[in-house]
Amino acid sequence: MRDQFPIFKKHPELIYLDSAATAHKPKSVIDALMQFYAEEYGTVHRAIYKGSLLATEKYNATREAVRKFLNAKHAEEIVFTRGTTDAINLVALSWGRTHLKEGDEICVSEKEHHSNFVPWQMLAKEKGLKLVSTITPRTRLVAIAHMTNVTGEIHPIEEIVARAKEVGAVVVVDGAQAAPHRKIDVQALGCDFYAFSGHKCYGPTGVGVLYGKKALLESMPPVQGGGDMIAKVTLEKTTYAEPPLRFEAGTPIIGSVIALKAAIDFIESIGQDIIATHENALRQTLEEHLRAVKGLTILGTSLEKGPLTTFTIEGIHPLDLATFLDLKNIAVRSGHLCAQPCLQSFGLTAATRVSFGIYNTKEEVYRFLEELDRAIRKLS
Ligand SMILES: Cc1ncc(COP(=O)(O)O)c(C=O)c1O
Repeated sequence: MRDQFPIFKKHPELIYLDSAATAHKPKSVIDALMQFYAEEYGTVHRAIYKGSLLATEKYNATREAVRKFLNAKHAEEIVFTRGTTDAINLVALSWGRTHLKEGDEICVSEKEHHSNFVPWQMLAKEKGLKLVSTITPRTRLVAIAHMTNVTGEIHPIEEIVARAKEVGAVVVVDGAQAAPHRKIDVQALGCDFYAFSGHKCYGPTGVGVLYGKKALLESMPPVQGGGDMIAKVTLEKTTYAEPPLRFEAGTPIIGSVIALKAAIDFIESIGQDIIATHENALRQTLEEHLRAVKGLTILGTSLEKGPLTTFTIEGIHPLDLATFLDLKNIAVRSGHLCAQPCLQSFGLTAATRVSFGIYNTKEEVYRFLEELDRAIRKLS
């Protein structure tokens, strides 16, 4: 698998353990981007010449590929965004602004990534809403990660959706961590919105997806005005295009959208079950060994979790550890992991996270453990 990733040919020594932040790109994704810019460049939707028609065809082909990837009912339910952050902000600024009123509650917990917390906090401030961490009869929206980026915990989305529906709340799922690692079926999950980022799924940066149920998207106003999102413009008034174009104002990230299909094809050609089995085996091997390390605490106790492990070691600052490991060409994440309230709930301001992608191997886990052992002896 590693041989499909040019980065590891250039840097064979690199042990990359930060795929939860962003994943490296297989050659097929890089080739798709290159092919678009070098051989097939053109804008979408606007012109009738061949280059534009081909770009439009490929752009639309990704929408259909994402529909299948998420098992959405309609291609019109797939909105291209800049990423998960952009997708969640779109829901907050469009659905949230128009459907929520003072005193309504948003259910969101401290476990969330800042991307699925700050937009709701901003909206709450603007509209006089309350942020709470349980579902109550006043809950109008539930915002929850499918898989969290600190503990790796996988939330039981179907159960949460069922509970939310009892009180008539809409459910927004942050799928940034789940989408690269497991099969997603938005119809089975029953959620109203599902967001993920291309770059964590072996695709390019700058492209992401918001899935939204058709009726909900149709009930939402655009957040940005400009080209492509209109039906008719006069000096007096503008009518809007139907979703998804209503939410894709301006010339889109065409190349990245086209290359996202190559990323999805890559994931599907391996198969999500095989990916999950491989990555979970790595995480389990890692955690078995980490549990024996004196002074080391793994954050979270969930057994159903994704391929990442966050931990602290008594007496060693995570930044010192990450710097030590970097000198050995091992890339791990350290710091607040874009989840300050979550770390605070553990009484921490920083931690170290190891996360896996399809290119990682057991040998890398053992190399990491060897260097961790050295780091502990040196730094404590
Ligand atoms: C759980 C979770 N949500 C949201 C995001 C934000 O993704 P992006 O920066 O691609 O918008 C991340 C990225 O780390 C994440 O881990």
